[in-house]
Amino acid sequence: MRTTVGIIGAGPAGLLLARLLHNAGIDSVVLESRDRAYVEQRQRAGILEQGTVDVLRAAGAAERMDREGLRHDGIELRYARKRHRVDFPALTGGRSVMVYAQTEVCKDLIALQLKEGGPLLFEAEALAVEGADTTGPSVRFRHEGRESVLECDYVVGCDGFWGVARQAVPAPLSRVFERTYPFGWLGILADVPPSHDELVYARHDRGFALLSMRSPSVSRLYLQVPDGTDAESWGDEEIWAELERRFETEDDWRLERGPITQKSVTPMRSYVHEPMRYGRLFLAGDAAHIVPPTGAKGLNLAVGDVVTFARALTHQKETGSAQLLDAYSETCLRRVWQAERFSYDMTTMLHRAPDATAFEDRLQLARLERVASSRAAGTDLAEGYTGFPLD
Ligand code: FAD
Ligand code: DHB
Repeated sequence: MRTTVGIIGAGPAGLLLARLLHNAGIDSVVLESRDRAYVEQRQRAGILEQGTVDVLRAAGAAERMDREGLRHDGIELRYARKRHRVDFPALTGGRSVMVYAQTEVCKDLIALQLKEGGPLLFEAEALAVEGADTTGPSVRFRHEGRESVLECDYVVGCDGFWGVARQAVPAPLSRVFERTYPFGWLGILADVPPSHDELVYARHDRGFALLSMRSPSVSRLYLQVPDGTDAESWGDEEIWAELERRFETEDDWRLERGPITQKSVTPMRSYVHEPMRYGRLFLAGDAAHIVPPTGAKGLNLAVGDVVTFARALTHQKETGSAQLLDAYSETCLRRVWQAERFSYDMTTMLHRAPDATAFEDRLQLARLERVASSRAAGTDLAEGYTGFPLD
């Protein structure tokens, strides 16, 4: 099998890349180790930055998002039983975000790819990237019980944090920057209308809590829990009681309860692999970097990477110049590190570390007060949340 761009992984990065290349007249093959239902149902991110929304529209993949997505013009910060709204358009010159789940983005892109695009093989597991430093890299993979080779001009590793593509970068050339956190998020889906019309990020002495949503009738809620927590060790009643405590306000706001339909725990990690390119192998999305989820940057960063790659390859096709491809890693990393900084700041401002001192507690409250009382500090948060520019 032969193609111009071999794409490993059909998460948001791989699927969007295939769509962008198709629109640019460049052929690709996508290899995905899991089955279609798994990819379409894996609960993950929920917030699309303004730039991601714009990219999906330009790619012709936004029809359902524009019908069903919920535009959000702000978030609420909650601390010391007080509420503060951050108004995005007012602080950023009109920018906003869209609540539209990663599952839905993937469903839309899969449907488009199967209808109009090149091959997308499910249950096709990449085993290794070979010849990345040659002009003919390839991907060895297993599909329907047989091993095959996909010969390519370029390989893009969109295979997430646990994928194989990153392993093809020789160890002496790799630099890894990493931080783990002593807590994770217990996430639930519940069949109950969201108790607030915007997301609520709550800092509490018992730990962080987040109120989000998937639709006008489905809530998505998260609780900070100790690292290594088993989701099943939390009963439904216990989850609602803890959410109520952490979201409590001095006014008459109430958290509505409903049947919990899903529970899982997400670990928290900051991770960057440099460089994001080795020869003709390019890494994109979680294959190259992870952010803790606070501030919802993961999916949006993945989108930025593949847009950068698609533009660079199109430029090379049109002009013969490899300048943008050569700059890929550097271009992506500038934006990646801004998102790493933002996600780290949001995480440390809102979560309570197990060994937090009274001094650190007061500093967190002072940081929140600063965002609430200074236009400059509020603008910094709003710019980060609605997204850093692609160029
Ligand atoms: P992925 O979505 O991980 O896609 C990679 C794909 O590659 C997968 O489909 C995988 O099956 C496939 N693959 C892996 N190995 C191989 C192989 N060898 N061969 C073929 N295919 C392979 N972000 C937020 O903003 N908010 C959240 O609430 C949030 N929750 C998260 C919860 C979890 C459990 C995780 C892991 C991430 C979460 N994220 C969240 C981050 C966000 O979902 C990711 O940043 C986003 O999915 C990145 O997209 P991607 O396409 O780079 O990688
Ligand atoms: C969601 C996840 C996030 O990490 C976040 O900051 C906001 C919303 C969500 O899953 O809805």
